[in-house]
Amino acid sequence: MTTGMPTNPLTSMPKKVDVYEVGPRDGLQNELRTLATEDKARLIEALILSGLKRIEVSSFVSPRWIPQLADAEKLIGMLPRRDDVIFTALVPNLKGLERARAAGLQEAAVFLSVTESHSQKNINKSVAEAISTAREVAREARAAGMRVRCYLSTVWGCPYEGLTPVPRVVEVVKQLADLGFYQLSLGDTIGVGTPGQTAEIVSEVSKLVGLEQIALHLHDTRGTALANALIGLSMGVTTFDASIGGLGGCPYAPGAAGNLATEDLVFMLQGMGVATGIDLGKLVEAGELAQELIGRKLAGKYLQAALGEREKQAHRSRSAVS
Ligand code: HMG
Ligand code: MG
Repeated sequence: MTTGMPTNPLTSMPKKVDVYEVGPRDGLQNELRTLATEDKARLIEALILSGLKRIEVSSFVSPRWIPQLADAEKLIGMLPRRDDVIFTALVPNLKGLERARAAGLQEAAVFLSVTESHSQKNINKSVAEAISTAREVAREARAAGMRVRCYLSTVWGCPYEGLTPVPRVVEVVKQLADLGFYQLSLGDTIGVGTPGQTAEIVSEVSKLVGLEQIALHLHDTRGTALANALIGLSMGVTTFDASIGGLGGCPYAPGAAGNLATEDLVFMLQGMGVATGIDLGKLVEAGELAQELIGRKLAGKYLQAALGEREKQAHRSRSAVS
């Protein structure tokens, strides 16, 4: 039996984290209700007010595939320009990259799956074709002076193929490691990941690219996103994708739920003394706006607790005056 004082794992964890907000893209791409462009802009402005510095605002994909985000150019034209906030958008190919550049973005995110069936359903390409497209996008972006991140989907599991073997992930990362992406965002597209698997994935991928180049993009379908984020953090990952109120999913991944909710992530990090530069109260205001615009209660737990608490307080003060 082990005796003695357990060591506090928090002491060796990163003290600062980048939160990469994907609600306006990953969230809204999967909602039945398509928001008006003006409402998307209001939501993004509320996210900026909360202190978020990296926001994926839309997608330059085929409007036939994702009609909810067909207004990317118009939306970007409406957003306030700030030196301290980076807007980015998803691009599937060179045509998408050119649209992003023409819209004035200095950053874009290309995406591919590590499993064949999801790749076919999502972008109508094999994994090898998608890697070759990602290579072209990286090259053209560099020539245009743009930064690019690359998403890897179905890293933990695939809706069509089940659990993804870690060697498969490694094989794909090897082909992407030297293409000049500033970051690889590892996606648990359908939220099937558990902490043991996360530890193994982060450990293997960090043998190929630096930890600062890894982001975790966790969907919360089975409630394990925060646990997986904590494991990633404990291993030195410092970028986490999240979505306001837990909006999100993937229209070509049946069963994918929302992303890890931004407020849940920030609440946990704040409580651990990890700096994010984000104001939780203002994030709740953004979440409340997202909820109003979408027209339904969102899944974010901190958001619901904060709104419930506020409702109770309002009820107490109403009872006190009457
Ligand atoms: P395709 O039909 O095979 O494309 O779609 P194509 O190259 O044959 O072109 C067909 C038409 O689309 C042509 O127009 C092209 O010009 C046009 P037409 O001549 O018929 O009038 N087209 C475009 N239009 C606008 N912007 C473009 C573009 N490219 C071609 N960029 C394609 C292939 C990749 C375009 C399509 O499959 C597509 O747009 N897929 C996107 C699907 C998507 O957005 N999925 C969700 C995002 S991924 C995700 O959510 C996962 C992530 O969150 C991480 C995780 O959770 O794991 C990132
Ligand atoms: Mg996603």
